[in-house]
Amino acid sequence: MLTRTLNSELYTELENYIDSIENKESALIEVLHEAQHLFGYLPMEVQLFIGEKLNVPASKIFGVVSFYSYFTTEPKGKYVINICTGTACFVRNAEAVVREFEKTLGIKTGETTGNGMYTIECLRCVGACGLAPVVMVNEDVYGKVTADQVSKIIGNYTE
Ligand code: FES
Repeated sequence: MLTRTLNSELYTELENYIDSIENKESALIEVLHEAQHLFGYLPMEVQLFIGEKLNVPASKIFGVVSFYSYFTTEPKGKYVINICTGTACFVRNAEAVVREFEKTLGIKTGETTGNGMYTIECLRCVGACGLAPVVMVNEDVYGKVTADQVSKIIGNYTE
């Protein structure tokens, strides 16, 4: 029996979701996606729970989770700041934008602030190259971002 430390209601929800799937053998990615949506990340105990429910070896789950950059095993901030560093954004100085976010929030890319509010991440092309450099904060999209707009953007997400 696995030890569970996370919210049991979320496990029940995940279990119901898994039970509703007909073809469980091919549903691993779908289930991981739903689990990350529910828990916000995929800690080891959730991965093992999914393995048990789908009858998939833990090694396969760890492999899938580490292969896709979309999946995360660390909790993220309330606001995830994604800066596109694809080619079009890169040549329009996305690096300076990344550095300014890092300096202003006092964290490196891939890290989360101690208060759990912000995570900085870099993305490959998000398909909006005409707006380069592009920054996304959760679902919000900012285009043609310059370093001096960074504090103002962060100021939109303080609560
Ligand atoms: S390279 Fe950034 S949106 Fe395409």
